[in-house]
Amino acid sequence: MAGYKTKLMQAAAAAREGALAPYSEFKVGAALLSRSGKIISGANVESASYGLTCCAERVALFRALTSGERSFRAIAVVARCAGGPMPCGACRQLLAEYAPDAKVFVADSRALDRIREFTVRKLLPSAFVTVP
Ligand code: THU
Repeated sequence: MAGYKTKLMQAAAAAREGALAPYSEFKVGAALLSRSGKIISGANVESASYGLTCCAERVALFRALTSGERSFRAIAVVARCAGGPMPCGACRQLLAEYAPDAKVFVADSRALDRIREFTVRKLLPSAFVTVP
């Protein structure tokens, strides 16, 4: 059981190396575990027009969704910061829509074994997920 968490964290840490973060210099990696057992990762990509930046979580989620995955067990997120990076509000929204049952693991890239664990439901309660 602990095995998949470690593997997911390592995938997020490896993905982080691919971050394009010339403005903030804050590199983030994320890795999703699908119900079918696949790991799909991503990293943040920044723009000179800052607001166009896309977080690692959304890059990973969009990659996973557009490669056909529809159901997710967990997401791991890694950056060099104390306690690990907490997903932003925009990413919480997308996760609530497409990965509502997922666990969320975060860790500092310098201490990958110190994992803090949340759920998407806990991070965004009462989410808006369907247009009435
Ligand atoms: N960022 C992520 O990729 N994920 C997070 O959970 C927090 C923030 C990125 C966005 C931006 O490229 C940089 O970190 C600084 O905000």
